[in-house]
Amino acid sequence: MQVKDIKNLPNELTVTVEKLSNLGYGIAKYDGFVIFVENATPGDEIKIELTKKNRNFAYAKIKEILSPSPHRIEPFCPMQKICGACQIQFINYDYQLKLKKEIVEDTMKNIYGYPILVKDVIPSPKTKEYRHKIQYPISETKQSKRIIAGYYKPASHELVNIKYCPIQPEYCDEIIDFIRENAKKEGISGYIEKTHKGNLRHVVIRTSEYTKKSLVVLVVNDAICKNNYKSLAKKIYNELDNIQGVCLNYNNKKTNLILGDKTELIIGDDFVEEKLCDRVFKIGAKTFFQVNPSSADNIFNYVKDYIKTHFDSPTILDAYAGIATFGICLSDVAKKITSVEQVKESIDNAKRIIEENGIKNIDLYCEDASKFFEKELRNKSPKYDIAVIDPPRKGCTKESIAYLLKLTKKMVIYVSCNPATLARDLKIFKENGCKIDFIQPFDMFPHTYHIENVALVELPNSL
Ligand SMILES: C[S@@+](CC[C@H](N)C(=O)[O-])C[C@H]1O[C@@H](n2cnc3c(N)ncnc32)[C@H](O)[C@@H]1O
Repeated sequence: MQVKDIKNLPNELTVTVEKLSNLGYGIAKYDGFVIFVENATPGDEIKIELTKKNRNFAYAKIKEILSPSPHRIEPFCPMQKICGACQIQFINYDYQLKLKKEIVEDTMKNIYGYPILVKDVIPSPKTKEYRHKIQYPISETKQSKRIIAGYYKPASHELVNIKYCPIQPEYCDEIIDFIRENAKKEGISGYIEKTHKGNLRHVVIRTSEYTKKSLVVLVVNDAICKNNYKSLAKKIYNELDNIQGVCLNYNNKKTNLILGDKTELIIGDDFVEEKLCDRVFKIGAKTFFQVNPSSADNIFNYVKDYIKTHFDSPTILDAYAGIATFGICLSDVAKKITSVEQVKESIDNAKRIIEENGIKNIDLYCEDASKFFEKELRNKSPKYDIAVIDPPRKGCTKESIAYLLKLTKKMVIYVSCNPATLARDLKIFKENGCKIDFIQPFDMFPHTYHIENVALVELPNSL
């Protein structure tokens, strides 16, 4: 008999997984109720145990795989199930790409609501050692006070001590190992989140695919042990190969934010150099920069080629610009570029890169994007041929879309790391007469559920 109330669903069920959710869970159905299953993939026939029931859906874990999906593989990382960073590493890579495309299509169907072409996902050139920004929480064991460093278990703050992570360059493991071995010798303790005590909270590593060098940032809870931190920083710089510099970052707040406001260079340089679209970028501790440089290069060159093929020396608005990465990459196919970003450090960094690359046609503005758009409209109604927008996960505000519709003549190229907010925003563009040509997804984060998209939005009078 069919169960009507989710409370009456038995705790153990046998199901077949149908889809992958946008958060990387396998989706199965039982009597019409949706069940999100950890570490499951479409095609799996499994016995599951429910772990949580909500109003009309539930979460579950696998008790037994009765018949595995043909797309299942042995994860290449032994910590995959424990660590939580690579949710779908047990699915073969080609099928991961197919599932990511389906996630974008389903999200568009559910939120955008109009027919739309989603192209095949462009894979990441590297599926291992692709992650070039590493942020390890640091703590210490209760009894022996050994330093531990790694990632939190899924949906928890329980730290998994990770010795080897195959999605980041191997030398990052060596740096972390060195810190694990030497922090205590320098009189530095690991941070205990519960009591807000201890010295070293995080280690952040920015590492360059281009130079293979690393910037190491020790995030510390206090300045009392400054000499000890300095001594560890010098040891890292002097004893390890290819360290570009070591900085201290002070963060004494009870917060989930990793970096505090103040960063101090101890030795070497406070940046690493990375190459994108044949331009060299200097990346500091706080600079926003794509973590998978070779996949980012695909995205930037894709946008550049599209503009080069379809436009003749356009004026471009580069909004949510970070260190003006799009502006800088597009500067040689544009007449003029205006880049807008609200973080001052990023704008200062962009200034430096623009000067060093001898670029003359970019204006930089440090301001909230929406306020800047409004001012631009009030001043003299300038019109940009193209707007390239790359907002954070929460997407654009309604006002900023309204301003963009007036500020842009021909096309909005919307770069997004969140299909749900992209779908919501594209709907607004569509309902204001725009035509959404297609969506081109890119895989920036192999083995995770994340997916980056580029959507091409034609303005009503653009043809
Ligand atoms: C996804 S990142 C993109 C950065 C850059 N396009 C890149 O690819 O390196 C989003 C950027 O938007 C900036 N940002 C977030 N909200 C903003 C706002 N309201 N106004 C201006 N910039 C904003 C963030 O600081 C961040 O640098």
